[in-house]
Amino acid sequence: MRKDVRILLVGEPKVGKTSLIMSLVSEEFPEVVPYRVEEITIPADVTPEKVPTHIVDYSGTKWPDLSLLSVVPLILVGNKSDLVEHSSMETILPIMNQYSEIETCVECSAKNLKNISELFYYAQKAVLHPTGPLYCPEKKD
Ligand code: GTP
Ligand code: MG
Repeated sequence: MRKDVRILLVGEPKVGKTSLIMSLVSEEFPEVVPYRVEEITIPADVTPEKVPTHIVDYSGTKWPDLSLLSVVPLILVGNKSDLVEHSSMETILPIMNQYSEIETCVECSAKNLKNISELFYYAQKAVLHPTGPLYCPEKKD
C-alpha cells in the first residue's frame, strides 16, 4: 500500500490554484492569496483514504515538464464555476474526452467552496486506485 500521496496543482496563471488550496485548508474563500503557498500535508486520519496527502502549489510563467505529468493520473479541474451561468462541464468534458490520461474532471469554485474537498478526494483516489491503462506506478522506498 502507498505510504503517501502527492497532489500538484498546475495550470495557467490566475486560474485559482493557490485559492483552491487555501479554501480547502481554511474552509473559506481567501480574499488575498500569495502567489504560492508552502507545501501542506493533510494527516492520514482526516483524509478519506487514510493516507497522508501532500498538496503542492505551483506558480510560474511556464508549465512544468508535462512529460513527467503524463505518467501520473491527471484530474481536470474547472474552477470559478461561480462566474458561469451554465455548467462549465460543457467546456471540460470535451477536453477530458480528448485526453485519455485524464482520469476524471470536476467543476468547482474556491469562492463558493463548491466541490473543493471532493476535488482533492478525486485526486487522492486517482493515485490510490488508478483506472487509466497507461499508469506507471512511481517506485518509492
Ligand atoms: P498564480 O499563482 O499567479 O498563477 O495564480 P493562481 O492560479 O494561484 O490563482 P490565485 O489563487 O492567485 O487566484 C487568482 C484570482 O482568481 C484571485 O483574484 C482569486 O481571488 C480569484 N479566484 C480564485 N478562485 C476563484 C473562484 O473560484 N471564483 C472566483 N470568482 N474567483 C476566484
Ligand atoms: Mg498561485
